[in-house]
Amino acid sequence: MTMFDQRAFRSALGCFPTGVTIVTAPNPGGDPIAMTVSSFNAVSLDPPLVLFSVKRSAFSLPVLLEASHFAVSVLRGDQTEISARFAHAQGAKWAGLEPRFGATGCPLASQGLATFECEPHAVHDGGDHLIIIGRVVSFEVEADGEPLIFFRGGYHSIAARA
Ligand SMILES: Cc1cc2nc3c(=O)[nH]c(=O)nc-3n(C[C@H](O)[C@H](O)[C@H](O)COP(=O)(O)O)c2cc1C
Repeated sequence: MTMFDQRAFRSALGCFPTGVTIVTAPNPGGDPIAMTVSSFNAVSLDPPLVLFSVKRSAFSLPVLLEASHFAVSVLRGDQTEISARFAHAQGAKWAGLEPRFGATGCPLASQGLATFECEPHAVHDGGDHLIIIGRVVSFEVEADGEPLIFFRGGYHSIAARA
């Protein structure tokens, strides 16, 4: 195998701008799990499928894999604090913040641009991550608002083209 500069690879991947989401799921043993996730993407319209990848070392992963439902909330441009809050491993992620609950009873992290509540559909090997595919059973969408963008390791907002 050729030597692979992981840091350079990570930087190269960071050239692809993404939105930012919070993935949440009920946790019978404690606070709902919640983690910041930028690997979210659409997969299929029929059936309605979405995906994201979760690193195998994430503390949230065992609970997520057992959950009957999980939710993905797409953050607005002014929600960098929420993104930072749920990007820290474990800890008191919900301190001072109450989850709201969606149509499926799944805890939701924020009133973002859109929320997708999912049933588990499939889990695939993704190297040091697992690729999780959810079947969307309920969703909410806001008519207005700008997304939070993650690009080259930092937060950005969409600028209108002149
Ligand atoms: C903008 C941003 C995007 C992220 N995207 C992902 C992702 O797609 N998958 C992932 O596993 N971790 C991602 N992370 C890192 C997790 O949010 C972080 O590891 C979190 O601490 C996991 O929490 P846990 O270990 O308590 O489960 C991202 C972090 C940031 C700041």
